[in-house]
Amino acid sequence: AYGRNTAATDPAAPYYRPRRLRRTPALRRFAAETRVGPANLVQPLFLREGLTEAREIPSMPGVFQHTRDTLRKAAAEAVANGVGGLILFGIPEHKDPTGTGAVDPDGILQVALRDVVAEVGDSSVIIGDINLDEYTDHGHTGVLDANGDVDNDASIELYAQAAVVQADAGAQIVAPSGMMDGQVRRIREALDRAGHQSVAILGYSAKYASHFYGPFRDAVESTLRGDRKGYQQFPGNIRESLLEVSLDVAEGADLVMVKPALAYLDIVRLIADHVQVPVAAYQVSGEYSMVEAAAAKGWIDRDQVVRESLASIHRAGATQIITYWASEFAQTLDR
Ligand code: PBG
Repeated sequence: AYGRNTAATDPAAPYYRPRRLRRTPALRRFAAETRVGPANLVQPLFLREGLTEAREIPSMPGVFQHTRDTLRKAAAEAVANGVGGLILFGIPEHKDPTGTGAVDPDGILQVALRDVVAEVGDSSVIIGDINLDEYTDHGHTGVLDANGDVDNDASIELYAQAAVVQADAGAQIVAPSGMMDGQVRRIREALDRAGHQSVAILGYSAKYASHFYGPFRDAVESTLRGDRKGYQQFPGNIRESLLEVSLDVAEGADLVMVKPALAYLDIVRLIADHVQVPVAAYQVSGEYSMVEAAAAKGWIDRDQVVRESLASIHRAGATQIITYWASEFAQTLDR
């Protein structure tokens, strides 16, 4: 029988001893089924227009709104630490009803993309987040119609323009995060027409209306009142994620994402079992801040909890993990 100790003379001794493969560090490494590496990690970075000094985000200790200067340094450091990618967000000085800054060729995110590409070249994957919520004065992810609802079709028109200016600025991947219907198809079409056939699309495909995004609202100085339940998914739904992901793949998404990560690992696994494109997961701001807060109180071992959470997300089936710990932890993981 499997693992049976035929030499055992004591009939009460266990036949099966899985502990044999856990005995030493070398055996544990040898028997590891999955292991997250630095190339799996993606570092989010924020460029805030008009800053003269990097500003720590109060609800995300250790995460900064950057100046152009400190952004370049942070990007270079993350790449030196071995991260697989960088995802960039811009915070404009002025917001308006239609989020003009998102589609302006000289908007703050486009500035960030050009600076980071100039700094790190193609030694890491540079991703631009496509959305309007950082740019609109009402804080929604699209433009509003006469009733004050987010106008889906008008919004994806702007996403398409944002995708093109991001690609012009050097983004290798664009990541629409607004959960508008048809956004991937509209963006693919616009990129192709503009000659950006090689720029890939990472769909924030299964994005839930989550309260774990709380600290991110601080990070981008969100003005949103109300919520995003009219376009992001209800946390109790499962099959709806398969629908969203299938649509994105059919529309041309090169990678799909599940967001948030830890509270949605069943969804990560489900999607990973069903699609043939790579599956990413976003370990969001609230996941970060909860661990940092508990660690600051001395209630948990921060580094071990971070490593375990990354291992869990990877084990659930996410190949690319967006995490605010990417740069720091990439250094500590086996290449
Ligand atoms: C939209 C966007 C959000 C996040 C990433 N892209 C906010 C939202 O949808 O409300 C959340 C990321 C996080 O919480 O870390 N621009």
